[in-house]
Amino acid sequence: MTIATRKLGRTGADVTILGYGAMELRGQPRGPAIADEDAGRVLNAVLDAGITLIDTSVDYGRSEELIGRYVGHRRDEYFLASKCGCPLQAPPGAPPPYPHDYSPANVRADVEQSLRRLGTDRLDLVQVHMSPSRAQLDADDTVTTLQALRDAGKVRFIGMSGTLPNLPDHIDMGVFDVFQIPYSAIQREHEDLITAAAAAGAGTLIRGGVARGAPAADKAWQQGPIGLPPGEGQRRWEDSELDGALNGMSRMEFMLRFTVSHPGLSTTIVGTANVDHLLANVAAAEKGPLPVDVYAQAKERLAL
Ligand SMILES: NC(=O)c1ccc[n+]([C@@H]2O[C@H](COP(=O)([O-])OP(=O)(O)OC[C@H]3O[C@@H](n4cnc5c(N)ncnc54)[C@H](OP(=O)(O)O)[C@@H]3O)[C@@H](O)[C@H]2O)c1
Repeated sequence: MTIATRKLGRTGADVTILGYGAMELRGQPRGPAIADEDAGRVLNAVLDAGITLIDTSVDYGRSEELIGRYVGHRRDEYFLASKCGCPLQAPPGAPPPYPHDYSPANVRADVEQSLRRLGTDRLDLVQVHMSPSRAQLDADDTVTTLQALRDAGKVRFIGMSGTLPNLPDHIDMGVFDVFQIPYSAIQREHEDLITAAAAAGAGTLIRGGVARGAPAADKAWQQGPIGLPPGEGQRRWEDSELDGALNGMSRMEFMLRFTVSHPGLSTTIVGTANVDHLLANVAAAEKGPLPVDVYAQAKERLAL
């Protein structure tokens, strides 16, 4: 079996419906410890499984450097997405989210640093991180800066990591080729905006698509997806009473297949530092969207 592909909107790129989110490779102090060789094994397993899109960020500690070191030589096998507006170095000691700077100087410095760390001469996609307002983008000339970087051949496409309340404005601006949006069965707040982004011709990278591993037996529900209060994901799941309707499917398989059932999704960038988890996710993604009746029932029972 192989993982199905979809068009990443007007970029025209074909990407697997399961992508790889490389935040889990950021290392300590903000992420779990991971040895370089283990990160290299995960990254090569991602490509060996046929996944064709990797998402990373200036903000993800050692992630970009590890991608450059361990799969830089396989650069033609994946669509590479990073982010901008981030501080070049995470402020020491401060917890995220860090203040972001969307000025021309910082956006250019981010892209140059990403290219160096990733050992490449082009980013396929650079996404404005942390969903700034349209007013902020205009004041900082961010879009013009990104268009100049595109014209210079350093980035191929421009995207926005967008969330409510600013995402509708971002879609209306008509300048972003791709949107990165949080979404899963227990976090459906952006469901209609994914549809709107796709209808406007953009590609969509969905994050948080397996609710940060919360439904797996070995993960605490408390971790839950980014953007929901602790325990809220578990409450939504339990209220849906879907456990009895899974017909032997694991909750993780259900979550992943629910996410890829959204017709506006191009790819879900699930993060993992664990090869077994990666392979389980690949097996679930290969099965594709949920059966129509299961999907319809789930949408009815899950809170919007
Ligand atoms: N734009 C933004 O602001 C933003 C914010 C957050 C994330 N992102 C991007 O989105 C990607 C994914 O985001 P996310 O971390 O929020 O959500 P996610 O992909 O829903 O969850 C990732 C978490 O789920 C666990 N996991 C994955 N597969 C599993 C499995 N089969 N069984 C058990 N646990 C599993 C991973 O732990 P293990 O390592 O133990 O598998 C990891 O902690 C990130 O890597 C990053 O690229 C973007």
